[in-house]
Amino acid sequence: MSSVEEVDLAHRIAVMGQRAKRVLEDNDRGSYTVPTAKLYPFQWNWDSAFVALGWAEVDRERAWLEIETLLSAQWPSGMVPHIVFWTREDTYFPGPDTWRAEHGPQPSSGISQPPVLASVLRQLTLEHPHSSDGGVAGDKARVAAVFDALNRWHQWWHTARDPKGLGVIAISHPWESGRDNLPDWDIPAAAIDASGIGPYERRDTELVDASMRPHKHDYDRYLALVKFGADQGWDDAAIAAGNEFWVVDPGITAILLRAERDLLKLGLWLGRDADELASISLRIERMEGGYDRMWNPEAGTYTSIDLRSGDYASTGTSASFLAAYAGVTERTSALVDELSAWSEHCPFLVPSFDPRDSRFEPNRYWRGPVWAMVNYMISTGLAEVGEGEWADRIRLSTREMMLQSGFPESFSPTTGESVGGLHFAWTAAIWLSWLNRM
Ligand code: GLC
Repeated sequence: MSSVEEVDLAHRIAVMGQRAKRVLEDNDRGSYTVPTAKLYPFQWNWDSAFVALGWAEVDRERAWLEIETLLSAQWPSGMVPHIVFWTREDTYFPGPDTWRAEHGPQPSSGISQPPVLASVLRQLTLEHPHSSDGGVAGDKARVAAVFDALNRWHQWWHTARDPKGLGVIAISHPWESGRDNLPDWDIPAAAIDASGIGPYERRDTELVDASMRPHKHDYDRYLALVKFGADQGWDDAAIAAGNEFWVVDPGITAILLRAERDLLKLGLWLGRDADELASISLRIERMEGGYDRMWNPEAGTYTSIDLRSGDYASTGTSASFLAAYAGVTERTSALVDELSAWSEHCPFLVPSFDPRDSRFEPNRYWRGPVWAMVNYMISTGLAEVGEGEWADRIRLSTREMMLQSGFPESFSPTTGESVGGLHFAWTAAIWLSWLNRM
């Protein structure tokens, strides 16, 4: 790169930092951040966790508030909901009247979302400690105040979503994975009877081009599952026993395993009692023992498993590459080969679904597009297991897409163009916390 190009790049990076901050500010609702106005007008669980990383670069106090607000919506069971309805808005469907989930202190959805929060907290404190405003002691007090809530949430995943102790975590709804319309869910959801849901009006397709959003057929099934959960009063045992959709998700499993390891580190730092730490270690051991169940030799990667039929998905997804992030290293070289094969089919990494598969759609949500926060996790894991070149490649690809297209919901892996909603909080947060510091 010539020196003129270098100066130009440095300038563009500085401008991007300002724009990213603006995205967070525009989506700030005081004590929580909406993913983007209108399309997602409430607090979303894993969005808020990633957004806290971005806020920490702008206003550390605001980062803590984001986390504390999310955890304040925890249910008595330990579950932390995927959406918290802090206000009434009519630009989103399904709202609280459809979920019928008033189990927590605040109306919410009845399912959870990938538990990245403990890992975010570890990054904010142990990896990136603060030197003023109470410094490390202040951080410790704030982690101590939320530690029990995180521990109970993690325990909830094991009790509610792995009641047989397989060491891998099932989801009860495609939305629980955070990867809503992934092709993996098509077959397990196909048999769901959606005849009882009645007429409804979607709001998402009024705001984003329908070609980028899930099909109506998928939406019918999403709503049938919400109805089933609500009819069971969101009882975890009834859902584990009778929910038609019960699928082991490599994404949640990897993220929870990482989060458990990070929770243990936080617990050691805080000096929590030995019994408590031992029970976290036991949960980690169970998951380490279970992880390889997801290895699918025919696909040559980790895949999801439909626990109702016993069938494995035929293809890998971006979550297959999260094993390193989970601290599971046995299959790293096979996964890197797989990543290399994917990279030959699309210039931008990492597509959410295998680009060689006929179901790959570069512009439809989780059936192809690249998501920045997934890249952040994959790249972090690969760097930790010594795959620095791939880690850098993913980071640079993410940066290139943002320099080209700004901060949309996701990106096309074939062109780098924006896909879905615009002015998106977690994409901006990933710029602030990860790419800005490259
Ligand atoms: C979509 C995504 C989900 C995200 C939510 C809000 O539903 O699939 O992962 O949390 O939007 O951004």
